[in-house]
Amino acid sequence: MEVTKSARKDDQGEVGSDLSERIKAATKDNHVRAENTQLMLSYQKGQITLPQYKVLLCSLYEIYKALEEELDRNSSHPAVAPIYFPQELARLESLESDLEFFFGAAWRKRVIVPAATHRYEQRLRQIGREKPELLVAHAYTRYLGDLSGGQVLGKITQKSLGLSGREGLSFFSFPGVSSPNRFKQLYRSRMNSVELTEDETAAVLEEAVAAFELNIQVFDDLQKMLSVAAETSDQSESGGVKTSLFLSS
Ligand code: HEM
Repeated sequence: MEVTKSARKDDQGEVGSDLSERIKAATKDNHVRAENTQLMLSYQKGQITLPQYKVLLCSLYEIYKALEEELDRNSSHPAVAPIYFPQELARLESLESDLEFFFGAAWRKRVIVPAATHRYEQRLRQIGREKPELLVAHAYTRYLGDLSGGQVLGKITQKSLGLSGREGLSFFSFPGVSSPNRFKQLYRSRMNSVELTEDETAAVLEEAVAAFELNIQVFDDLQKMLSVAAETSDQSESGGVKTSLFLSS
């Protein structure tokens, strides 16, 4: 029987009315595109290099800083409170310690991000101020991803970068989550308990698609930034010149 794309849920049947099912179905194609960006493909092949990983960490830092500050600020908003899990999920401190590991004590001065990361950050800030009910779309996109593919990526990172211990890899570890799968179930049920009108639900689904696209743009910009840096590395002594092309004002 022919089924329309929006009504399909993998091979398990129809998509229900729960937000968790609808958001997964709505972003399915974007997830495939994100997995197939050059940066994520290198990752999956175990070919992530140290410069690639360092610039990725810088962008993740700026993204999570904005996301977590906005979640904190709106933690008692009725559409945020049910999905607010700072103890279990917050990544900002782990990113800070990873950045310190890779860049040293003065890491803050070394954080460089491309224009796409600034756009992502700005979107998060705007939503936090004007439409906090859409924060769930962003929290879902990052945190459920980190708890899914992210676990495998942690092991790949360790191997690709030749790290012996766990230092530099805090981003991938969730000490407050004993079973990622069970936690994801809890998170989905909390998402489903958020009371949204049909218009708000539609806006959340649209925002989740936008969140995946923002991630894809960050990956693509990082890839470009690195190839420009590689091409110009023997023409310039200064890191600032290489990357300034991609920095927004
Ligand atoms: C779920 C792999 C990149 C967001 C998953 C799952 C896997 C996976 C295996 C579990 C699927 C399931 O339980 O049905 C990967 C791989 C990636 C990647 C290998 C790249 C190398 C990303 C990116 C994002 C993302 C870049 C977003 C920024 C998500 C989300 C889920 C998920 C939100 C949860 C889906 C749900 O259950 O609703 N991913 N992923 N993933 N991934 Fe990814």
